[in-house]
Amino acid sequence: MSKKLKLVVSTGAGISAESGIKTFRDADGLWENYNVMEVASHDGYLRNPELIHKFYNDRRADLGKAEPNAAHRILKDLEKYYDVYVITQNVDDLHERAGSSNITHLHGELTKVRAVDDESKVFKIGYDVRTTPETVIEGHKVRPHIVFFQEAVPMIEPATELVAEADIFVIIGTSLAVYPAAGLLNYVRRGVPVYYIDPAPSRVPAGVTVIRKTATEGMAELQRILLAGIADKQ
Ligand code: OAD
Repeated sequence: MSKKLKLVVSTGAGISAESGIKTFRDADGLWENYNVMEVASHDGYLRNPELIHKFYNDRRADLGKAEPNAAHRILKDLEKYYDVYVITQNVDDLHERAGSSNITHLHGELTKVRAVDDESKVFKIGYDVRTTPETVIEGHKVRPHIVFFQEAVPMIEPATELVAEADIFVIIGTSLAVYPAAGLLNYVRRGVPVYYIDPAPSRVPAGVTVIRKTATEGMAELQRILLAGIADKQ
């Protein structure tokens, strides 16, 4: 059998919208009700860590009630035919729960916290634990394992390497507003097909095939396109 092609997929909040997780910048998104610089920036964390802990405790509890949707599941199913690599800006664990094998989290993970004094010490806490700035785990005060604005994005380098090796690149449900994640597209090799699934893309980069549908409908359509491509080659 010939070698599988490398399908690299960059996902944003839109892929989890149909699981009931709010996006950030849509009309009813999280940033309508919260000040992003208060709850998601390094300065905000230094100013009011209680608020930051509460914000992520609430997000974590919401996530515990959510389930992966058909878009997450199709990405897992495509592993039968492609080497699939998911790069996600999402801090939820819905790709993991759908069974995807290769997942890179650019902005951290809600179900984890890490030691304030040693960022290499990461603790999985699940959905129901509510932390405060005083919470101590294994002798360490902890903070959400989230990349705040004004902080470095340590996983961006491995992510760009994956994108540079992609045979097909897919973007799903992101406004392409936040860098460096939005810049991943620039690492795609010339001639590589790029698809962008989003019902209301705020901008469409040149050379990209847009599927103007929700993640579940758009992934069903993309699955048909990709599987037809494989059938053609056999
Ligand atoms: P945004 O909220 O900026 O964008 C969500 C995108 O999803 C928009 O383009 C919507 O049109 C699209 N969308 C909405 N419903 C959809 C559906 N059912 N199916 C598919 N797409 C849908 O979210 P992100 O681009 O992911 O970072 O935001 C990037 C980063 O900004 C987040 O990771 C977060 C935030 O601040 C941090 O907090 C560090």
